[in-house]
Amino acid sequence: MAETKSLAVVGGGQMGSGIAQLGAMHGLHVWLLDTDSAALSRATKSISSSLQRFVSKGQLSQAARTEALKRLKCTSNIEDLRSADFVVEAIVESEDVKKKLFIELDKITKSSAILASNTSSISITRLATATSRPRQVIGMHFMNPPPVMKLVEIIRGADTSDETYHATKALAERFRKTVICSQDYSGFIVNRILMPMINEAFITLYTGVATKEDIDTGMKLGTNHPMGPLELADFIGLDVCLSIMRVLHTGLGDSKYAPCPLLVQYVDAGRVGRKCGIGVYDYRKQSPRL
Ligand SMILES: NC(=O)c1ccc[n+]([C@@H]2O[C@H](COP(=O)([O-])OP(=O)(O)OC[C@H]3O[C@@H](n4cnc5c(N)ncnc54)[C@H](O)[C@@H]3O)[C@@H](O)[C@H]2O)c1
Repeated sequence: MAETKSLAVVGGGQMGSGIAQLGAMHGLHVWLLDTDSAALSRATKSISSSLQRFVSKGQLSQAARTEALKRLKCTSNIEDLRSADFVVEAIVESEDVKKKLFIELDKITKSSAILASNTSSISITRLATATSRPRQVIGMHFMNPPPVMKLVEIIRGADTSDETYHATKALAERFRKTVICSQDYSGFIVNRILMPMINEAFITLYTGVATKEDIDTGMKLGTNHPMGPLELADFIGLDVCLSIMRVLHTGLGDSKYAPCPLLVQYVDAGRVGRKCGIGVYDYRKQSPRL
């Protein structure tokens, strides 16, 4: 398979913007697509300042930053993705919405293009069936934030070819990531283990065992986690956490994965975490933890 030269990223939220940045930093021509133009403006700003942080830390030259920004283009027109060698989808964690996108991508992109999903939990095999090229569909799960976190989890669907796997692994390695490979079962490796822990932290809060601060401090100082599970949930997005728990619950069929009612209630109330200013913690006030 030919080397990947152009990348398209669909979804310019916290994950898609970071993946687009990685592509541009590592010499690829990148299209970043989002249906929401405000999301694209936010993405451009966040990529520009993240690249500046790499420069300040001496990890990137100012000239390389300028070149990376030149290689990145934003669009809301899916037709612009025609020439992409490799597409990474990072839109909302909904199987129906992702399938609709895969149907469109399958029609628009060239026949050799690989269609990857950054899904946290949804079946790659089922996304692949929405296309006419299941051999070229794969899971490429970046961690948050993609420019910083060292891991990429690759998920092979039932029909993913060896060629697609090797091209995806080569791309992740070009981004200087360590690759792990998972079978296509709900939640894969990382979220299969992480999300039940986060859900259990919500249950601990919901049942009055302890305050949110003590739950997070307990896990940070007691088990050496860099962030407490509730802070981490706010960082990931409570809507994303809830979607993943629902996928685990349905996909694995065990009641131990039932989402905590408090997590459901926060999402119903629009308290989805840092990205909206309030989740378990309130980030709108002076103090980050009120
Ligand atoms: N947040 C995390 O920590 C994390 C980590 C790993 C993987 N993921 C996965 O990455 C994906 C994106 O998560 P996120 O946190 O970046 O979400 P987000 O809400 O920050 O961004 C999603 C973006 O997709 C756009 N979008 C929605 N539907 C679209 C469509 N049909 N076409 C084009 N753009 C569309 C939205 O406008 C939004 O800007 C999800 O599948 C999620 O499970 C998230």
